[in-house]
Amino acid sequence: MKGKIISDSLRIVITGGSSGIGEAVAFEMAKSNHCFFLMGRNDGRLKKIVESLHSLGCEAHYDVGNVGNEEDTERMFNNIKQKLGGIDVLFANAGVGYFGNLEDLTIEQYDEQFNTNVKGVFLWMNKTLPLLKAQNKGQIIVTSSNLGLKTAAKCSLYAATKHAVQAMVGCLRDELKGTMVKVATINPGSVDTPWFDGKDVDRNKMLSSSDVAKVVRMIIDQNETSNIDHILLLPGKS
Ligand SMILES: NC(=O)c1ccc[n+]([C@@H]2O[C@H](COP(=O)([O-])OP(=O)(O)OC[C@H]3O[C@@H](n4cnc5c(N)ncnc54)[C@H](OP(=O)(O)O)[C@@H]3O)[C@@H](O)[C@H]2O)c1
Repeated sequence: MKGKIISDSLRIVITGGSSGIGEAVAFEMAKSNHCFFLMGRNDGRLKKIVESLHSLGCEAHYDVGNVGNEEDTERMFNNIKQKLGGIDVLFANAGVGYFGNLEDLTIEQYDEQFNTNVKGVFLWMNKTLPLLKAQNKGQIIVTSSNLGLKTAAKCSLYAATKHAVQAMVGCLRDELKGTMVKVATINPGSVDTPWFDGKDVDRNKMLSSSDVAKVVRMIIDQNETSNIDHILLLPGKS
């Protein structure tokens, strides 16, 4: 379609593609017959999603590993280059969250959240950017949170990771001025995904993963003449 930033069939890489928002974005974008590379740690779920994408007529691949692990990332990028020949869209989405009063959170929870939510985003953007800059086009979208823009009780470590990626993306946008490589965050409030499985919360008034996927599509499909910075998406029901 004329006016899109990138060609019609896009090579879309999704971290945390095995569940929730990442899975929903894959199926939303599959409506337009793009090519996919999904990563996560759950082999069974990734295999099933990739098979479904094949049955919809899309080229799709996956690999299993830890988003914050350098060796896994290196291997996956070689895999991506071999299978897709490059990247047009990186959806840096994998994340974990532990919530509670600060004094009750643990060092292990600190390490896992920062390794996944911050180092994982850094590593995948660090590897993707040279490819996008070489072709002078492409889009990175990072799943931040409304907690990347505000603070709340019992969210200290999680909100700290999302503020960190918000700052990372803001600085990167400055670095990318004058190029056709774009980066944005999405900042959803609570989304009804497996994230909340087993937790005692009311999921009725949450966003759906499809609500978020539509916003991600809007960023990917934006015109050449716009450059979305972030989208704060809150539930419609209150
Ligand atoms: N649900 C919400 O209310 C909400 C609101 C705002 C923002 N977010 C953000 O949205 C993103 C997706 O969350 P979701 O709600 O879709 O939850 P989800 O269904 O639990 O999905 C999380 C995804 O991240 C992957 N992941 C987690 N740790 C990983 C690691 N170390 N290495 C590789 N993959 C990893 C998971 O894959 P495996 O299990 O296969 O490893 C899964 O695909 C996260 O960044 C989260 O912070 C969620």
